[in-house]
Amino acid sequence: MPIIYHEQANQFHLYNQSVSYIIQIMANGQLGNLYYGKRITDRESYAYLLETGERSHAAITCPEPVSLCLQYTKQEYPAYGTGDYRYGACIVRQENGSRISSFTYVSHKIFGGKRSIEPLPATYVEEEKEAVTLEVTLRDEVLGTDLILSYTIYEELPVITRHARFDHRGKEEIVLLTAMSGAVDLPDCDYEMIQLSGAWSRERYLKRRVLEQGIQSIYSMRGISSAEHNPFLALARKETTEKSGQVYGFSLVYSGSFLGQVEVCTHDTTRVLFGIHPDTFEWPLKTGESFQTPELVMVYSDQGLSHMSQMFHRLYRTRLARGYWRDRERPVLLNNWEATYMDFNEEKILDIAQKAKETGVELFVLDDGWFGERNDDYRALGDWYVNKEKLPEGISGLSEKIEALGLKFGLWIEPEMVNKNSRFYEAHPDWILSAPGRYETPSRNQHVLDFSRKKVVDAVYGMLKEIIGNARISYIKWDMNRYLTECYSKGTLPESQGMVMHKFILGVYDLYTRFTRDFPKILFESCASGGARFDPGMLYFAPQAWCSDNTDAMDRLKIQYGTSMVYPISSIGAHVSAVPNHQVHRITPLESRGNAAIFGAFGYELDLNKLTSEEIEVVKQQIVCYKKYRKLLHQGTFYRLKSPFEGNDTAWITVSEDMEQAVGAYFQVLNPVNAGWLRLRLQGLCQEMLYQVSLPGMTGEYFGSELMYAGIPIDRGRLLKETGDFASFLFFVKKKQE
Ligand code: DGJ
Repeated sequence: MPIIYHEQANQFHLYNQSVSYIIQIMANGQLGNLYYGKRITDRESYAYLLETGERSHAAITCPEPVSLCLQYTKQEYPAYGTGDYRYGACIVRQENGSRISSFTYVSHKIFGGKRSIEPLPATYVEEEKEAVTLEVTLRDEVLGTDLILSYTIYEELPVITRHARFDHRGKEEIVLLTAMSGAVDLPDCDYEMIQLSGAWSRERYLKRRVLEQGIQSIYSMRGISSAEHNPFLALARKETTEKSGQVYGFSLVYSGSFLGQVEVCTHDTTRVLFGIHPDTFEWPLKTGESFQTPELVMVYSDQGLSHMSQMFHRLYRTRLARGYWRDRERPVLLNNWEATYMDFNEEKILDIAQKAKETGVELFVLDDGWFGERNDDYRALGDWYVNKEKLPEGISGLSEKIEALGLKFGLWIEPEMVNKNSRFYEAHPDWILSAPGRYETPSRNQHVLDFSRKKVVDAVYGMLKEIIGNARISYIKWDMNRYLTECYSKGTLPESQGMVMHKFILGVYDLYTRFTRDFPKILFESCASGGARFDPGMLYFAPQAWCSDNTDAMDRLKIQYGTSMVYPISSIGAHVSAVPNHQVHRITPLESRGNAAIFGAFGYELDLNKLTSEEIEVVKQQIVCYKKYRKLLHQGTFYRLKSPFEGNDTAWITVSEDMEQAVGAYFQVLNPVNAGWLRLRLQGLCQEMLYQVSLPGMTGEYFGSELMYAGIPIDRGRLLKETGDFASFLFFVKKKQE
């Protein structure tokens, strides 16, 4: 059992091969943290790690047996107001107006496995032996509320997951104003904070900054996780690189507004808080009611950033994503969005699909524009019945014809939205989120349906189930193209309006749950104007996500590189699109567009009829290559070799679990004149194994140690001079057969 309770010392030691996490029940009954980091040897007591003793201005929470000053104490779920002046994990308002709380130890349970927290998404185990869970019950007698803190440690992964639940038993109502998923106090501040931030079409750019005293944070108050900040942050030592060094990664399994905050106090300790954003949240609890926070996943690595990411990939690919498609090879798809936008009819679609089939594509996806009067983005969202002018035989007729071509059929939907110009809105004008007497702010000409109300979710479910259930649909792209404004629900009491933003996401999860239950074999891909809701919460329902609306291969290097910090390659929807590129108007070689997209859930976003016969041959080869290697690409171990954020070259490689095979890619953005050689050092290979290596201009047999330490000399001038800018190549490494 990797969770030991040391009764004498009142300590819990959670550990596996790689990490230790030590919790102390402190003299005042609250939970303190003694250590989080690389595995240390178990002993009866680590009491020496509890830092007690006074400083000037210190409030003494508990004088005996030693002065306990919460301000200087590392804690598990701190609260502001009783001697700790930093931001805390919870604030609870009582009927008398007090916001003071203090939760102290009552009991605990240790058990094998991990409990579900549905309706919230979370990581899971398939067998009890994969993880052990500690549940500590704390109580605030004044409130009459229990706080249950849960910790799960995985046996084989350096992963600890956490969440908190409030069970209210007191007679008076309380209101949770802040209820974070977890807090982590670290004893020093010599870290750099890594975050994935950006905007539409440049999602999840990697940022790294030195921690300073005070607050640094990432957040979303947009109602969804957003393109601006991803619900992930990491604290790495200054010397931590891709290959070596310590890093703590924090990732919130949630798709709504969130806050990830790092506070460095003036005694240079670090506090991480992660959870639902308190400024868009208030949750009243009456007697007998409970509130469950989302799950926080913490990964510790002392082998650099690539290792941290690999651990996230393994966990999220195999123990967060679920269902029929989790481990299956993903189909090569072609999506018509950039080929036609909304200007299509059945003939055009079949023409595109026919060519796709001939070229090797396996799944055709019909994007936006197939329903109601949807000829532009001013109308028809909400009218989930087929546009017979475009598709006379409906979705069912079209899907039959696509199947007859030998392709699977996929469909785009945007269930959470409505245009005012729609029959659905006319019938239900009060079903959008909007504040009484206020302007209803449009975005992309559309409004957000009030998914905090079950009857709204029921209505959308009914319409879409009809369409999906009556056609041969193998894939759904679930889009979401605006953020929330005027987040007020007409179906909710005034005192409960603070619940609406979280309840909206619970409504989204509810609809996903119904669809994935009703149609378990459909492959779901989430999307939000590209990658504005690319988060672990979505991965629980949809094993892949459209990574970005920006399909330019060079821009994609940064987007996919950043995304790979947390998210598995199998989850990164990546397509080859036309040139000039529709977002940045850049002309990149077809080969490079393919080489970037192949490190993702691969597909095309263009009309292949418009390509020359030479280009079609290239596409055919790309598809053959993807089909041959997709299992390795998606289930292998991914290493980032050269960062697009640091220079002109990008490189990465995926190695099979048995280390006998690998596929890598090298990209050069601009063609440098008279450039020298680049020494590309590979990773993840077996030192003693002899490999056959093939890349343009260089094939041969090399030992793993040579490839990893001496590296491959790349003569940039010679290899890439014919392509010019935006050049790239794939390379293949395979164990030499005896
Ligand atoms: C945004 C998506 O990211 C695009 O791929 C496309 O589906 C459009 N929405 C359709 O409106």
